[in-house]
Amino acid sequence: MTEWNSELELGYPKIDNHHRIFLKTINKFLQKLNQGVDLKVDLETLLYFLTDYVETHFIEEEQILKKINYFNYSKHKQAHQRLKENLGKLKRKYWELVQDSSDLFLIKLFITNLKEDLINKLVAHMKEEDSDIIIKVEEAL
Ligand SMILES: [Fe+2]
Ligand SMILES: [Fe+2]
Repeated sequence: MTEWNSELELGYPKIDNHHRIFLKTINKFLQKLNQGVDLKVDLETLLYFLTDYVETHFIEEEQILKKINYFNYSKHKQAHQRLKENLGKLKRKYWELVQDSSDLFLIKLFITNLKEDLINKLVAHMKEEDSDIIIKVEEAL
C-alpha cells in the first residue's frame, strides 16, 4: 500500500487533492476487502469510486497538461486511455461473472485482477508519469 507523501506532491492543488483522496480511499477499500465482510458491496462501491476518479480526474489533469503545453501530452493521454480501458474490462467482468456468483474463489480472483490490472497501475502512473508533470509546472510558472 502506498501512503500519501510529500514526494508525490506536484504543487497543483486540484491534482494533489485528487491523488491524496485516491490513495486514502483505495487503502481504505483494500483494508476492508482484506477483512472479507460484504465483499461484493465493497467491490461495487470501489468500482463506482474508480469510475468517478478515472472520469473526472483524468479530464482535469489533461486540461492542466494542455494549459501548460506539456510536451508529452498525447502520450500521457494515451496512458489514461489504457487505464480507462482496463477499468472498462474489469467492470464488464464483474457484472458478467462475479456479481451473481457466490463462488468465493471467483470473487477473490477478481479482487486480485482488480489490484494487478488497475489499482497498482493507477498508483504506478501517479508515481511515475504524473510526477513528471511537476517539472513542467515549475517551468511554466
Ligand atoms: Fe493523476
Ligand atoms: Fe495522469
